[in-house]
Amino acid sequence: MRAHLSTTYLGMDLKSPIVVAPAGITETAERIGRCEEHGAGAVVMKTMAEPEIMRQSPTPRFRLLKKGKGLRHFVLYSYEQASQFGPEAYAAELEKSRKRVTIPVIASIACTKERSWIEMAQMMESAGANALEINLSCPHGPDMSLDSGIEARITRITGLVASAVKIPVVAKLPSQLTDPSAVAKGVQEAGAKGVVIFNRLVGLDVDVESQAPIMHGAFAGHGGYWSIHYPLRWVAELSPLLAIDIAASGGVASGEDAIKFLLVGASVVQICTAVIVNGYGIISQINAEITDYAARHNFRSMSELRGLACDRVLGLQAVDRRRKVRARIDGEKCNHCGACYRACFHGTIVPDREGYAITSDCTGCGLCAEICDCGAISMVPLSGAETGRETDSQPGRLGN
Ligand SMILES: Cc1cc2nc3c(=O)[nH]c(=O)nc-3n(C[C@H](O)[C@H](O)[C@H](O)COP(=O)(O)O)c2cc1C
Repeated sequence: MRAHLSTTYLGMDLKSPIVVAPAGITETAERIGRCEEHGAGAVVMKTMAEPEIMRQSPTPRFRLLKKGKGLRHFVLYSYEQASQFGPEAYAAELEKSRKRVTIPVIASIACTKERSWIEMAQMMESAGANALEINLSCPHGPDMSLDSGIEARITRITGLVASAVKIPVVAKLPSQLTDPSAVAKGVQEAGAKGVVIFNRLVGLDVDVESQAPIMHGAFAGHGGYWSIHYPLRWVAELSPLLAIDIAASGGVASGEDAIKFLLVGASVVQICTAVIVNGYGIISQINAEITDYAARHNFRSMSELRGLACDRVLGLQAVDRRRKVRARIDGEKCNHCGACYRACFHGTIVPDREGYAITSDCTGCGLCAEICDCGAISMVPLSGAETGRETDSQPGRLGN
């Protein structure tokens, strides 16, 4: 059985829940065309910014920090400003994109003056935008400092724009908010039909030899596949509270990552970094991985799996705190590197003649099994007697 990837977002029918997020990869009609060719459900066009200074990107503007092998582990540190296009050129490119592709094209705008928010929104609506994202969260924009007024400003601007246009309006939230639930509920009340959780983080890296910030010296946006967990938590928390759509954004590298967001209630999943570093082909790969997963679990449609994990997220009182497992070392597999011994701050891993042994005081924390590179440590269930902690096989030590 082949699952349908089709879904609805902002009242629109999409053929895939994968939406390409705004960035240079969605700046022109030609690039938007490539998103469609590779199976994107919709595209959000690179943000059009009112301040002219935001339309000029410095060179270079990309660095991959803390890079591991291949392109799985890295921090994408970048200073790519908004679209090079001013309002008229952006509207023209948007019109061209709408003619070129059949999938929805969502415009994205970032303004500073209230009048401009309204004018730009109406301009993009006239140019044929299927929906509009409000970007008050650009890591290199005027709101990057995230002052204390940002939460109220997001709600106010969303309300202004939503009442000025007929197309659906989506608020893209910054990840650094005091109370994301209050802001998300606020934009819903203000008339947004969707919310993007979240834009990327603003950060900094410093070159210790020159004692100066890297690249051209400013704070920069940073993200990568590691960044999925924070938005995942918030999509899980917000989806039961909101009646509007959630577009998840942050850290998606694979079909599995996208499925995680759908399972916690996202309507669509936006991808950006994955396309930047791998090319547009990653879109069809992610679609194929979602299709395979759905077939394996007998889901016929995206709505069947959406939100299934939400009820399984536990609160403080519900977490099972019983001591149920302990670590066990397989002496045959152990290469005696000592990593587990050094990491065990409980002091319950001790050197012995054969290498290392785990004492009966093992708290079952699981750290050593995670650290062990040779698969010698596993977590095993405690027997009933061990749960009472009276009958360890040897005093001061559990059998390995
Ligand atoms: C180089 C780059 C440029 C971006 N430009 C924009 C932009 O113009 N407007 C916007 O709303 N978000 C922009 N973003 C944020 C992405 O749309 C996305 O929300 C974020 O990168 C998290 O998703 P990811 O982990 O899949 O990259 C940009 C991100 C990157 C890496």
